Amino acid sequence: MSMLEIEGLNVWFGRDRDRVDAVKQASFNVGAGESFGLVGESGSGKSTILRAITGLAPTWSGRIAVGGMAIGRSRPKQFYKKVQMVFQDPYASLHPRHSVDAVLGETLHLHGFNDIDARVVKLLDDVGLGQKFRFRYPHQLSGGQRQRVAIARALAPEPELLLLDEPTSALDVSVQAEILNLLADLRQEHGLTYLMVSHDLSVVGHMCDRLAVMKDGEIVEIMDVAALRAMQATHPYSQHLLQASV
Ligand SMILES: Nc1ncnc2c1ncn2[C@@H]1O[C@H](COP(=O)(O)OP(=O)(O)O)[C@@H](O)[C@H]1O
Ligand SMILES: [Mg+2]
Repeated sequence: MSMLEIEGLNVWFGRDRDRVDAVKQASFNVGAGESFGLVGESGSGKSTILRAITGLAPTWSGRIAVGGMAIGRSRPKQFYKKVQMVFQDPYASLHPRHSVDAVLGETLHLHGFNDIDARVVKLLDDVGLGQKFRFRYPHQLSGGQRQRVAIARALAPEPELLLLDEPTSALDVSVQAEILNLLADLRQEHGLTYLMVSHDLSVVGHMCDRLAVMKDGEIVEIMDVAALRAMQATHPYSQHLLQASV
């Protein structure tokens, strides 16, 4: 079964002479439990695809379906129980005056859970932070710890699909691998499906089963990670990306 179906997706910003066609006729499927990568250089439309799925890019056409259900103009609250996003910058994504406890507690409350206390404890354990971080504020956390909080917040509604937008590229190189390993473990433990953006082919090679290569808003190639490892890209642009990454 497909967890995510994208068919003929177009996303644009502005109108008339100011119009930017950020995504053009993108199509791909992500199976339940699969980890799918989106790669391509900066400005190629990777984030825009994630934003269109989650409702942050309002002008789009084509078909987006999650768990077999097509998405319309607005997304019901139920949608965000299924689909959650983790952003690139853990500094921008947490409110400076909300403690970790408040961030997670509010999210759980919003999604209608009652056993909030127990769930906050469990979420902190799940992301490897533990209870000593519960009443801290963002300025008391490192970048990696903040991203763990952002991941805990995304996990709070018990989603099936996580949209990960370069989740480690704003972090120190020394903690990037820790966060990637955490994400890999969480996918196993929670049976999650990932759609993960990266400009780094080695990250996608490590984290994903298949990937789509984007250039100027278009998907130019979809390939298995096995083919990536074997340097078997067929499209000249994918070959160029591969050669640039070794
Ligand atoms: N809110 C916006 N308004 C206008 N143009 C945008 C907006 N967001 C993205 N774009 C444009 O869409 C294109 C794709 O951007 P983006 O999806 O962020 O690329 P990537 O994530 O691959 O770096 C770029 O040309 C970018 O300038
Ligand atoms: Mg981006």
